[in-house]
Amino acid sequence: MANQDVNPGRRRFLTATTAVVGAGGAMVAAVPFIASWQPSARAELAGAPVTENFARLEPGQRMTVTWRGQPVFIIRRTPQQLDLLASQDSRLRDPSSDNLDQQPAYARNPHRSVKPELLVLVGLCTHLGCVPLFRPEVEAQPFDSEWKGGFYCPCHNSRFDMAGRVYAGVPAPTNLAVPPYRFVDDGTLMIGVDPEGAA
Ligand code: FES
Repeated sequence: MANQDVNPGRRRFLTATTAVVGAGGAMVAAVPFIASWQPSARAELAGAPVTENFARLEPGQRMTVTWRGQPVFIIRRTPQQLDLLASQDSRLRDPSSDNLDQQPAYARNPHRSVKPELLVLVGLCTHLGCVPLFRPEVEAQPFDSEWKGGFYCPCHNSRFDMAGRVYAGVPAPTNLAVPPYRFVDDGTLMIGVDPEGAA
């Protein structure tokens, strides 16, 4: 019978070879498909939105992502950090975010964000573009004896509070910028696009 003529070892070899070729073919076919839906680095540099999972960010922590070639800070603020914001108003240059160029309308509120606890900021000093240091400690600092946490730019000593609002009397002229962003879900942000329905 025909089946009895098949060498079991040879059959295993042929089966394995076919499987490898099949997998290789699938891989080759998949490459152009994947390349077609992943935004290229060039597209991201030009302004394509960036999606970031921040679910693991603990209260008080900051992460940095890159959007349009610039750093964007994502910070999960603590209840204490939120409570302290109002105490800084009298020390700030623009406590009510009256400069409309520095945040979208949906982030023009006391916490300068969509969700109070989650702060999203372009991490570039509004003086000459240095990256400010994240200094969340609530304690006296060499640069501010009444420091309540925020961002410090060592290039020329500008200071910003935990909402990115600039202190009066420093070189930086405006609050740190809030980029457009929306929530994809409770743990994912898309930076570079407004929330659906936002003006
Ligand atoms: S660049 Fe930040 S203070 Fe000058």
